[in-house]
Formats: sequence, C-alpha cells, structure tokens
Amino acid sequence: MESETQPKGTPRRGFLSWVSSMTMFGGLAAGYGTLAAIAGRFLFPSNHPDNWQFVATLENLVVGQSLSYRTPGGARIVVARQATGDSLENFVALSSVCPHLGCAVHWEANNNRFFCPCHNGIFDSGGKATGGPPAAANQSLKKYPLKIENGLLYISLPAESIA
Ligand code: FES
Repeated sequence: MESETQPKGTPRRGFLSWVSSMTMFGGLAAGYGTLAAIAGRFLFPSNHPDNWQFVATLENLVVGQSLSYRTPGGARIVVARQATGDSLENFVALSSVCPHLGCAVHWEANNNRFFCPCHNGIFDSGGKATGGPPAAANQSLKKYPLKIENGLLYISLPAESIA
C-alpha cells in the first residue's frame, strides 16, 4: 500500500535529468575544447613545416630534367633532378620566381645552373645567385625541403603557400 502513495516515475525523471546534464556538459566540453585547440594553433603556430605535398614519382623525373610545380596558394617552384641515383641530394626544389623582378627562372642541366632570361640572372645548382642583377643584389632563390618515400618525391610547403 505504501508504494502506491509515492509518485510513479521519480527515479526515472532523476536518471533522465542526470543523463541530460551529462550530455550538456559533454557538448560544452567538446565545443570549448575544439575552440581552444583552434585558438592554440592560431596563437602558437608550429615552427616545423609538415605540409608534405606529392610532386612526382622518381621514375618520371629524368636526370637533367625539371618540372614546374605550383602550390595550391599559387607559389611557383621548379623541381630539378640534377644527378643519377635516387638519393635526396640529387634533387632540388627552388622558387622559380626571380628575386630581381619576378621573371621565370628555369633549370639548365647542360650549364648546371638556373637561369633567368630577363636580365641574364644566373644561379648555381643550389639557387645561390652567381651572376647578373640577382648576384649584384645578393638575391638567391628560395629553397624548399624535399623528401623521398617509396619512390615518390614530396615537397614541404609553408602553410601560407597552401592556403
Ligand atoms: S628578372 Fe631575373 S634577372 Fe631580372
């Protein structure tokens, strides 16, 4: 008889209230956690570029040849294979924009140099200016890190050249 005097559903209401509260706290924690993670990446950007982008298979980049690569952000890069062998030192990736007035620089395998035809700008195989106006102004080509994995060539790009 006593059990009939207690209102039915009280334990169930308590449980549902508890589940509702926990769900709300979980949602708030997930929301603020995501916001904190985004803010942290914005306020403390990584100094270690890890934006590796596929460039080419090693077999498709013949010794002495180069290819033009354009980043998703529009930066123009020339990637050259300068010697035989699949080791990393035989490849180089440099900005193909001349630091003098912005003409396109290209790889000349027979002269082992990069060349800008606009004002005869000359750069060595590593991108250091050695002749013409870029050398006079000590303006070299920007170099990009490369890596090789399983016969594939990748380039590391700064975040601003991807966006
Ligand atoms: S733009 Fe390249 S040397 Fe002038």
